[in-house]
Amino acid sequence: MSLEIVRTVADLRAHIGGWRGDGHSVGLVPTMGALHEGHLSLVRQSLDRAARTCVTLFVNPKQFGPNEDLAVYPREEAADAAKLETEGAHLLFAPGIEEMYPDGAATKVSVPGLGGILEGQSRPGFFDGVATVVAKLLIQAQPDIALFGEKDYQQLQVIKRMVADLNIPVHIEGGAIVREADGLALSSRNVYLSPEERAVAPTLNATIKAVAERFAAGEDAAALSAWAVDQLLEAGFGPVDYVTVRDAASLEPLTRHDGTPSRVLAAAKLGRTRLIDNVAV
Ligand code: PAF
Repeated sequence: MSLEIVRTVADLRAHIGGWRGDGHSVGLVPTMGALHEGHLSLVRQSLDRAARTCVTLFVNPKQFGPNEDLAVYPREEAADAAKLETEGAHLLFAPGIEEMYPDGAATKVSVPGLGGILEGQSRPGFFDGVATVVAKLLIQAQPDIALFGEKDYQQLQVIKRMVADLNIPVHIEGGAIVREADGLALSSRNVYLSPEERAVAPTLNATIKAVAERFAAGEDAAALSAWAVDQLLEAGFGPVDYVTVRDAASLEPLTRHDGTPSRVLAAAKLGRTRLIDNVAV
């Protein structure tokens, strides 16, 4: 079966309706394109878990701030489609702006609390944009499962919360972070790094791994965060938005390890590129 590309909600629903009629389960992998191994691992996970896989490609303007990289965000649909074809994905939904947001689309989905901290604080409006577009995609496609990478760990928690709050009948599944050999988490934005910045970038992962190990060994979270910020500034990052140890589900701050599943999350700029990463404790 070769990859089909559709651009309208009506065509998406016709395809998925056909699969449903044949008794197939459906997996959805929402993306903004510029697909790398991280995305493709989600596609493979979906192919394992569902009979049919639909990938979506939409660079969602509502999740970019006024000073962010919407205009230059990598757009490479033909290359993305070729990768999806090779993986055996069944359908690519690649709508235009007018299809996703006809007449400006006034409705906004917001997840205050979980969506207002960390990334939500550094990037006001970001999670409203994400929650709105993901809610739309889930309603449009009505998949059995939808997959999101743990690289955007807070995004995954926000989406799980939104789906629970709105009773959207879908199972949200996370996919493990895919990394370069030196630890740098794969991201579509890594292409912005200069060779010098690329050499420094793995320090982010090395630093939060050290925080996770030392927190598990009993050190204080605030002291570890301060240490990590210094490490990153010394390596050439700056500003550092946060390095923090949080409850893995609620993302509430933790002070000392007490066995609660926890996560170290960090965001920092390296030159003009903002990098995020996280590891489990
Ligand atoms: O993680 C992303 O690529 C985007 O935030 C998503 C989930 C596709 C929504 O636009």
